[in-house]
Amino acid sequence: MKLNWITSLTFLCFILFTGCTNTTSENAEMDKFINDLLDRMTLEEKIGQTVLYTSGYDVITGPTVDPDYKEYLKKGMVGGIFNAVGADYTRSLQKIAVEETRLGIPLIFGYDVIHGQRTIFPIPLGESCSWDLEAMERSAKIAASEATAEGVNWIYAPMVDISRDPRWGRVAEGAGEDVYLGSLIAAARVKGFQGNSLSDNNTVVACVKHYAAYGATMAGRDYNTVDMSLNELWNTYLPPFKASLDAGCGTIMTSFNDLNGIPATGNKYLLKDILREKWNFNGFVVTDYTSINEMIPHGYARDEKHSAEIAMNAGVDMDMQGGVYMNHLKTLIEEGKVSEKDVTDAARAVLKIKYKLGLFEDPYKYCDAKREKTDILTAENKEAARDMARKSMVLLKNDKQTLPLKEDKRIALIGPLAKDQYEILGCWSAMGDRDTVPVSVYEGLVDALGDNRISYAKGCDIQSDDTSGFDEAVRVASNADFVVMVMGEFHNMSGENNSRTNLSLPGVQLDLLKAIKKTGKPVALVLMNGRPLTINWEKENMDAILEAWFPGTMGGAAIADVLTGKYNPSGKLTMTFPQNVGQIPLFYNHKNTGRPFDPNDPQFAYGSKYWDVSNEPLYPFGYGLSYTTFTYSDLTLSSKEMTKDNPLKINIKLVNGGKYDGEEIVQLYIRDLVGSVTRPVKELKGFKKVFLKAGDSENIEFILTVDDLRFYDADLNYIYEPGDFHLFVGGNSDTKIKADFTLNESGRSEKPKPIKIK
Ligand code: BGC
Repeated sequence: MKLNWITSLTFLCFILFTGCTNTTSENAEMDKFINDLLDRMTLEEKIGQTVLYTSGYDVITGPTVDPDYKEYLKKGMVGGIFNAVGADYTRSLQKIAVEETRLGIPLIFGYDVIHGQRTIFPIPLGESCSWDLEAMERSAKIAASEATAEGVNWIYAPMVDISRDPRWGRVAEGAGEDVYLGSLIAAARVKGFQGNSLSDNNTVVACVKHYAAYGATMAGRDYNTVDMSLNELWNTYLPPFKASLDAGCGTIMTSFNDLNGIPATGNKYLLKDILREKWNFNGFVVTDYTSINEMIPHGYARDEKHSAEIAMNAGVDMDMQGGVYMNHLKTLIEEGKVSEKDVTDAARAVLKIKYKLGLFEDPYKYCDAKREKTDILTAENKEAARDMARKSMVLLKNDKQTLPLKEDKRIALIGPLAKDQYEILGCWSAMGDRDTVPVSVYEGLVDALGDNRISYAKGCDIQSDDTSGFDEAVRVASNADFVVMVMGEFHNMSGENNSRTNLSLPGVQLDLLKAIKKTGKPVALVLMNGRPLTINWEKENMDAILEAWFPGTMGGAAIADVLTGKYNPSGKLTMTFPQNVGQIPLFYNHKNTGRPFDPNDPQFAYGSKYWDVSNEPLYPFGYGLSYTTFTYSDLTLSSKEMTKDNPLKINIKLVNGGKYDGEEIVQLYIRDLVGSVTRPVKELKGFKKVFLKAGDSENIEFILTVDDLRFYDADLNYIYEPGDFHLFVGGNSDTKIKADFTLNESGRSEKPKPIKIK
């Protein structure tokens, strides 16, 4: 049937109206249910909903388990438990809440499912190098599905802290240094975790963290101070949080750091002015592990009671493991220092999420021992992890087409990570089995090529002074035609509180590489690590380098796929690799300074630079090679001028001129030449992942609108300004393929009121 426009419009209105009324009536039902419940709750029970304890089932990242937590639970004084995993185990705790407390309010179960639950995917920094939003959404979906099969319904991810300092170990948990890409990845991960409905059995409520600016921790030392302009906060650190919340993220975690003198956990500006008032967030806010109590050593609270007062008044709904809400909120209300309404609202926010998860209908819906047996580590999940791992890898060097491995060659596989099944899972592997399940590189290669072509030597440890394995390694290398070295970091050299000041390969690994290089055999280096490393000698001297990050359960198989050419690598770096630690923080979208250094103008001695090293990175953001060769040509813009109603159409021709089919991540950057606040030298504004068969070409099109040119000005209005822009397209952030355009009008955000710290 052909609909005329009036029929179509009526139909559309009907759909919108019924859609809206359904949601409205569902919300009304929920509100009624929760208000009725709150009416029946004592103050102690309301406070109970704001209390979260670890069960200690898995690794804990702060002070130890409170031995009395089960006693509190029985008294209805606990709203949630984290680090409790397993259908039976979580059921046993839920049973206490449901059957032994006065109102039987179910618990919410939280857990750090950072890159998989049982089937472990690459570390998030690795995943981000795929630039593949669909794949990352799928990885989060699988993680949620496996976690819910083991009793978990609340996941402490995505971690969206923009990270520009590779000394900081937690760069491994995030999506790298870029705001635009980081925001898209944040949203994709939230969608993957939460699916279409929180009430489905295989979805969880996500918890975006760590709010806010944790990634800017001074000197890359974990938990350290953060001090930055509000302009930087809004332009760089907040957007991925906003993107997560826009994607529907139900909860948010405060960060450990202080921000401009005020700990994030007691920061009204972050938690009330921005989160509740400006962004209308209606989920709940949880602290990081004892971060309320930590306001005491921060020098912001006198004692625990004071810290509870500050946190509740700042807008924190739930206290993770601190015990201070449980111990002090009641007295604080009696003393008039905290309002009962705020505590009721906090309890309401928590109860709403429990309602949305369907816990009031069936508190045991996630404690399904049958699903726990069938839904984890399935062949399908492992295949997805293998695919994600391949997509995450970045080919940093491939001189004279060293890789892929040639069929007739004898291969020496050498290095402390070549047979490893333990480190390969990376820094936060939840319930991932490190001992038996993961596929090592050795296993992956033997599976792909058979063991008669492969000889092995460990050579050295990841970190020790012991060189006694060198001779054997050199002998094995000398008897082969080709050497694959597998080297890197311990998994726990990155992740929480695992910062480093030296970013080279630990121990004697570099010495071993040098010894192997002397054999004259071609050498490919495969790296497993949780952060960018300073690998200058390696870049100079290796024939090929594959950055594999910590690739997870199927890592060895995925590495074999790439080494053998079954998969053509397509990943691109999402964090800059520095030449040395002294250059840090080093990131592509820095400002130009008043004295930008021009290497072509050596007369200009006072350009911003170092005495001993150039300003260039070792590898720039967006960089990554393929076995094939992509070339760009014919950049055209639809106009030299852009307005609100005339977005820019950008076209460029991409040619796969090599011998392999492959994927290229085509990147679009802009530079705003003059702004009311200084603008970065380049900003990513779009990308496309394009598959081209060998010899094929394609016209790639981007559309750029005025909204892509917005930024927060000095008064924190979200604006675009008229002026001249450069536009760049290419295969990494260092691309020189450029065109210019002009924007002829200005625009402001709808809510131009500047926000000031109160
Ligand atoms: C970490 C968080 C984590 C929490 C719960 C903290 O130490 O900073 O990222 O979610 O512990 O395990």
